[in-house]
Amino acid sequence: MSTKATNIHWHGANVSNEERQQAVGQKGAVVWLTGLSASGKSTIARRAEQMLLERGFSAYVLDGDNIRFGLNKDLGFSPADRTENIRRIGEVAKLFADACVVTLTAFISPYREDRDKVRAIMPEGTFFEAYVQASIEVCESRDPKGLYKKARAGQIPEFTGISAPYEEPLSPEMVIDTGSKSVDECAMAIVESLAAKGIIKL
Ligand code: ADX
Repeated sequence: MSTKATNIHWHGANVSNEERQQAVGQKGAVVWLTGLSASGKSTIARRAEQMLLERGFSAYVLDGDNIRFGLNKDLGFSPADRTENIRRIGEVAKLFADACVVTLTAFISPYREDRDKVRAIMPEGTFFEAYVQASIEVCESRDPKGLYKKARAGQIPEFTGISAPYEEPLSPEMVIDTGSKSVDECAMAIVESLAAKGIIKL
């Protein structure tokens, strides 16, 4: 999307990224969880957030359903609206990460191109795509919100996995298999992965 406003000028901070990290005591990053509805994105993101906070790190979850109550309440589930949803969240996540927060986002984010665009605006080495992998059969059998049932009955148009596409990540930094691992195991894998990538020191 091109910029609409004219006569605007970028105003940088007085402190460098390194100075900010030292003042805050940690680095920021985005862990971008992507996967089908009911794959476990929100549950794992919230558990990972809790584990990070318990260890003294600043972490925050941006969650699909919640953001749609506020910032993105004007958006639905058409391809264009989903793209705009992810674009806005990407920009918000970038700001959080810039403020040295480990930011965990939990959005279906079904389109590869949209996720790649978020990756492209993030500083090198601060964006980690985490594929929350669970088959459509597993997600449909969980169906915690009863949405798959409604979608099968034709009551929800453009439902991801049923009547709208989901494009799997091609080379995600993290793969989280919620079909075979516990919530704690999945969340801990994210925490350990952040340590391995030098974002936090355990
Ligand atoms: S995204 O595709 O734009 O990334 P997002 O993660 O914000 O989606 O929202 C997905 C959540 O909205 C689902 O977990 C579900 O609760 C709800 N939802 C309502 N309608 C749909 C739909 N048509 N497709 C997918 N999810 C939907």
